[in-house]
Amino acid sequence: MPVKSVTVRVPAKVNLQLSVGPKEADGYHNLVSVFQAISIFDDITIKLGEPGSGLTISISGDQTHGVPADANNLAAKAVSLISKEYDLTVDAHIEIKKSIPVAGGMAGGSADAAGTILGIDYLYSLDMTREEMIEIASKIGSDVPFMLSGGTAIGTGHGDQLTAALSRGTYHWVLALSTVGLSTPAVYAECDRLRGELEIVEPQTHEGLMQALLGADAPGVGAALVNDLQLAACSLRPAIRLVLDVGQEYGALGAIVSGSGPTVAFLVADQDSGLDLAVALTSSGVVGSVAQAYGPVAGAKVIATN
Ligand code: C5P
Repeated sequence: MPVKSVTVRVPAKVNLQLSVGPKEADGYHNLVSVFQAISIFDDITIKLGEPGSGLTISISGDQTHGVPADANNLAAKAVSLISKEYDLTVDAHIEIKKSIPVAGGMAGGSADAAGTILGIDYLYSLDMTREEMIEIASKIGSDVPFMLSGGTAIGTGHGDQLTAALSRGTYHWVLALSTVGLSTPAVYAECDRLRGELEIVEPQTHEGLMQALLGADAPGVGAALVNDLQLAACSLRPAIRLVLDVGQEYGALGAIVSGSGPTVAFLVADQDSGLDLAVALTSSGVVGSVAQAYGPVAGAKVIATN
């Protein structure tokens, strides 16, 4: 029997390194971005509709505020690109069950696009190769290819040219979430403004971070976390600084703004110390809500079909 519905699970990410080069002529920045996929997931269910019904989208779950259920959703952009490339008419409903914070620097929108690529490929038996999926993904956004691969990877170029990073061990995270997101272009623009006339060198992979990942050395990874957008995120949202301070005070191995923020990611030794930190953050009053997660986890994968 032909498949009528498919559900794809896609993780969130944190950046262990986000080094930002000078602004290029195309408005983008060359990056070295070390991604780790972590155990907070969106589930994307795509159901075949009647011929001629077109594409519809609905959003559910605990993170729905501000997510567009129209052509602006990155899932719709994924469908539109695949339709053109494969001369495909998509009559389907996409339900996005969100747990990844919206506009939180954790690639939630990119995750939904990656899940949609995999789901449409499955539902319509397109037999896309990995390379074809990645090509579509990088047209949607810089973080989308990583959401297909998951694990731990180094992104160069716009962050979308991926190579796998050698990483051992499991890393435990506490995420301090904000109820109000930050716009990625605004954070990059603030980074440029703060840099002013400073000469910015091309970003390089952080060798200390790579060694620590290879050695399953969580304190080493904690000490090596680096994000060039952190200053800009704190400049636009000064409260982030308070959150970073509370986490450091309570003994996190490392603290970093995830991507363009405002989520703050704390690396902790294990789940129990994560729970202690989560309680401390909640009772400090400076954090909206907290989540615990671990990484690395796999990228987008089909979890159910019907
Ligand atoms: O690629 P994506 O659509 O996720 O990028 C969102 C915004 O982030 C871009 O419009 C740009 O302002 C900024 N960006 C950048 N350099 C990158 C990636 C993103 O300036 N390498």
